[in-house]
Amino acid sequence: MKIRLDRWLSSLAAGSRSQVCKWIRGGQAAVNGRVIRDPALSFDPETDRLSLNGKELDGRLVRHVMMHKPAGVLTAARDRKQPTVMDGLPPVYEALGCMPVGRLDRDTTGLLLFTTDGEMNHRLLSPGRHVDKRYQARVAGRLTEETAAAFAAGMDLGDFTALPAKLEILSAGAETSLAVATVREGKFHQVKRMFAAAGHEVLELHRISFGPLTLPPDLRAGEWRELTEEELAALRAAAGMERGHE
Ligand code: URA
Repeated sequence: MKIRLDRWLSSLAAGSRSQVCKWIRGGQAAVNGRVIRDPALSFDPETDRLSLNGKELDGRLVRHVMMHKPAGVLTAARDRKQPTVMDGLPPVYEALGCMPVGRLDRDTTGLLLFTTDGEMNHRLLSPGRHVDKRYQARVAGRLTEETAAAFAAGMDLGDFTALPAKLEILSAGAETSLAVATVREGKFHQVKRMFAAAGHEVLELHRISFGPLTLPPDLRAGEWRELTEEELAALRAAAGMERGHE
């Protein structure tokens, strides 16, 4: 795919189109080592190397990221007043259209994926695809197997009936309990609503995995990294997009 030099550079350098045009006309940009002064010339980001002021830029337009979302940030585009997950990534990701795959509530922590691939994003969230998400929850009160059975039966939440979900109780105390819930849909506040319907307020919610990907133990709250080839292949498979299958 070919792309105009000014567009390419403004995506990657996160400068405005007019700033970038000035840089190009001023001889600051080079493609494959050759200075180019025409902002409208087209190049191929897959094969051509782009540099600005002699420094080579990472020209990949397609990016896939995992983040350990910290508590207290919104899953949304940048916001003037409140911190968002996009503030945790370098600006180039937003400029390239790298978007969160679904949302986590502001107080929820754990695995959040981002991708520039709108089709994959859409497929991973599609209600018919049933990609498993696992959450560790600390809830008020003592969880019992009755609640696990209610999760497994598919709970009526008023405006919809949740698909059968798995609840593994890790510890059950009089004050609080710890459990792992596996759900296959991603409706608004779904896990909190399911626990609330069984009489348990969620005190802490942490996403452990999304489809085939698990939050790595060495990725601390607020940290992020790009997906490996293997992780991306597994995610594409979960989205029904194995190579040659589209
Ligand atoms: N379910 C919730 O209730 N909150 C989240 O953040 C994710 C799933």
